[in-house]
Amino acid sequence: MTDFPRIQTPAVLEEDVQVEVSLRPRRLVDFVGQQALKEQLAVSIQAARNRGEAMDHVLFAGPPGLGKTSLAQILAEELGVPCVSTAAPALERKGDVAAFLTALEPRSVFFVDEIHRLPRALEETFYPAMEDGQLPITVGQGAGARVMTLDLPPFTLVGATTRAGRLTTPLRDRFGIQHRLEPYGVTDLGAIVHRSAAILGVDLAADGARAIAARSRGTPRVANRLLKRVRDYAEVKAGGVITAAVADAALQLMEVDLMGLDRLDREILSAICEKFEGGPVGLSTLAVAVQEETDTLEDVYEPYLLQCGFIKRTPRGRVATYRAFAHLGLEAPATDPALF
Ligand SMILES: Nc1ncnc2c1ncn2[C@@H]1O[C@H](COP(=O)(O)OP(=O)(O)O)[C@@H](O)[C@H]1O
Ligand SMILES: [Mg+2]
Repeated sequence: MTDFPRIQTPAVLEEDVQVEVSLRPRRLVDFVGQQALKEQLAVSIQAARNRGEAMDHVLFAGPPGLGKTSLAQILAEELGVPCVSTAAPALERKGDVAAFLTALEPRSVFFVDEIHRLPRALEETFYPAMEDGQLPITVGQGAGARVMTLDLPPFTLVGATTRAGRLTTPLRDRFGIQHRLEPYGVTDLGAIVHRSAAILGVDLAADGARAIAARSRGTPRVANRLLKRVRDYAEVKAGGVITAAVADAALQLMEVDLMGLDRLDREILSAICEKFEGGPVGLSTLAVAVQEETDTLEDVYEPYLLQCGFIKRTPRGRVATYRAFAHLGLEAPATDPALF
């Protein structure tokens, strides 16, 4: 075991949270990459502003750390309205939703994170609220109970999800604007690392930024986290300047390899390659083998391993590719399991 926490785990360190807030882009121009998405949002924002109306509801889907929460806050900032945030697991009863919606200033952004975790009964509360700006509520009890309809202030619901597939169709269809965030390329990640280094006052050489970007698994949050750890190393061991050599040494110490895989990534790959002879192996079996939650495997680890071409999903389970065997320095079986 090392003293370094895993690169990307759901439990985020307190220090990371604080730095993340300071590094979060505030305006659309600060948001690096995702050009098409930014242009489309800029049009929607301008149109809503010109009409003085609430913007249409927006759904952002994609793996953790790609900028969904940042975009929700940027939308509010650009629209010049407050952003009220919550997460679906915090909404338990209809009254919780009513309390939020009735208190919104007109045209506010109401951000609901992890919206795929909304209980079904509450989803239905959102339908009339999203469509007609109305909230039916039951007043009184028993024979005297009646349904009253509250008129809500106009608002923009911004939903974020790592699992678009888990949203019901009726809910998904009520988002007029839907975007899927894809992993970032190395050039964009390099720009993000440079931007963060400037904010944090870190001395970062161009090749140092590239070294970090290349191992950030397509994810801005990971890029920022690696930058902070490399900065610590640079301050202690290298006079504070991050060059490629310093970044390489720091990342090696953190057990992040040249492709950006951390220890658990490699455990997953070697489990498939060695324990299960290249696969196919079911997700839950694999999760037990590496002692991790199936959701974490699927949301956090798999997208990058798939993107690298190290694993494939087949109807019979996950298989490792020749590339995975080669990356681990293992001899591959005679036939590529991924060809099954
Ligand atoms: N496009 C981007 N440009 C600059 N920084 C970004 C970008 N996307 C994400 N980040 C950085 O990554 C961090 C995590 O982003 P966040 O919006 O919280 O992701 P998500 O909500 O999708 O998990 C942010 O604090 C921000 O510093
Ligand atoms: Mg988020």
